[in-house]
Amino acid sequence: MFPPDFLWGSATAAYQIEGAAREGGRTPSIWDTFSHTPGKVLAGDTGDVACDHYHRWRDDLALMSELNLRSYRFSVSWPRVQPTGRGPAVQAGLDFYRELVDGLLERDITPIVTLYHWDLPQELEDAGGWPERETAERFAEYAGIVGETLGDRVQLWTTLNEPFCSAFLGYGSGVHAPGRTDQESVLRASHHLNLAHGLGTQALRSVLPRSAEVSISFNPGVVRPLDPSSEADRDAARRIDNLHTRIFSDPVLHGSYPEDLKQDTARVSDWSFVRDGDEAIIHQPLDSIGINYYTTTIVSGPLNEELPESKLSSNHGKSEHSMWVGAEDVVFHRPPGEVTEMGWTVDPSGLTDLLLRFSREAPKLGLYVTENGAAYDDKPDATGAVHDPERIAYLHQHFAAVHEAMEQGADVRGYQVWSLLDNFEWAFGYSKRFGIVHVDFDTLARTPKSSARWYAGVIAAGELSA
Ligand code: NOJ
Repeated sequence: MFPPDFLWGSATAAYQIEGAAREGGRTPSIWDTFSHTPGKVLAGDTGDVACDHYHRWRDDLALMSELNLRSYRFSVSWPRVQPTGRGPAVQAGLDFYRELVDGLLERDITPIVTLYHWDLPQELEDAGGWPERETAERFAEYAGIVGETLGDRVQLWTTLNEPFCSAFLGYGSGVHAPGRTDQESVLRASHHLNLAHGLGTQALRSVLPRSAEVSISFNPGVVRPLDPSSEADRDAARRIDNLHTRIFSDPVLHGSYPEDLKQDTARVSDWSFVRDGDEAIIHQPLDSIGINYYTTTIVSGPLNEELPESKLSSNHGKSEHSMWVGAEDVVFHRPPGEVTEMGWTVDPSGLTDLLLRFSREAPKLGLYVTENGAAYDDKPDATGAVHDPERIAYLHQHFAAVHEAMEQGADVRGYQVWSLLDNFEWAFGYSKRFGIVHVDFDTLARTPKSSARWYAGVIAAGELSA
């Protein structure tokens, strides 16, 4: 059994679902610029219309109620609220989110607000973006504005979503916006994202009621050495864990960067962008940690032979090696087992491991699985129904993995499936469907998949049937 107040729900992000890219005074974010740059996103897809949630949010709330969802994690679009990333907010933007939150509360659905899910106002990128310190200061101002507007009605706050992706994919491999590829920028961006979290948390606390809870959503790697008895493989795992996870979680949870991380990356940077007092700012008291989990990672040291593509991980394959600063020689292996449409291996044990790791590392903080889910090639059948037994199996195993961690003592308080709707899957455009609700991108019609009905049943029963 899951506890009766367990916060089951779903998650989305502004750029992936809202559309209405030029309405209400919204200006371009780095994802508008990136998706409109030929060759960056599959099939030239953009978030201009996406799921048109900006106009259809009432229907989407009705769907959530129909599916028994008790929480909804969404993100606020920074350029919709504060178009240039500086100065006064735009009323239309604030009103949109206020109405959305009121709609959720009327339906007894707990809102979980993420302040930054990757859509940096383009003007701030033009001024240098995350590698520059000022971006963190601008984020704090923006956090204060949203906090003031929604603080009387939102209890659960998340500063950043997956800072790893913003820094490493945005400034290292370049597969995400803004598409830069520079090793020192990866480290600078990581630090300024951490600083943004710290300053943003302070700004939120200064305007929110004392009861409000502040969190951050990480996508920690579950990094396993190919051969645990090999020192080279263990060292590869150590270096990747530092870059994937501890570069964020150590300063946020413990107030300092790992010393070996600084040594491993010394060839690229002397880390002089970290000023005295920064780590203390980053180390703010939090109420919970959000964990986003999809798959495990297996690494080894350099090999003598070239591995065939089928044995390499599709996640952080060869093309992305330069983003692994000081670990460019590490080889990413495809973990054994079934894969989803993303090519990601289904391995629920990683979720149990992560929840236990963070409950040991931060025993006083609650844990939420703020994302977990799978993409499959879902298609309506002749009657229009969408059957997705693979997703049901995936979710079933991962709910069991969460339960297992709880039995072993992890204080897990909620689970938000990624995602409510099929949506704009970043560099993959609309080609990857993560929703429990199918979206026809020609008509924008929504159809709950069989996984959505199954999930509604689990929530109602509070337990997994065999
Ligand atoms: C992580 C991200 O936060 C979300 O935006 C994305 O769509 C999912 N993972 C799936 O890749």
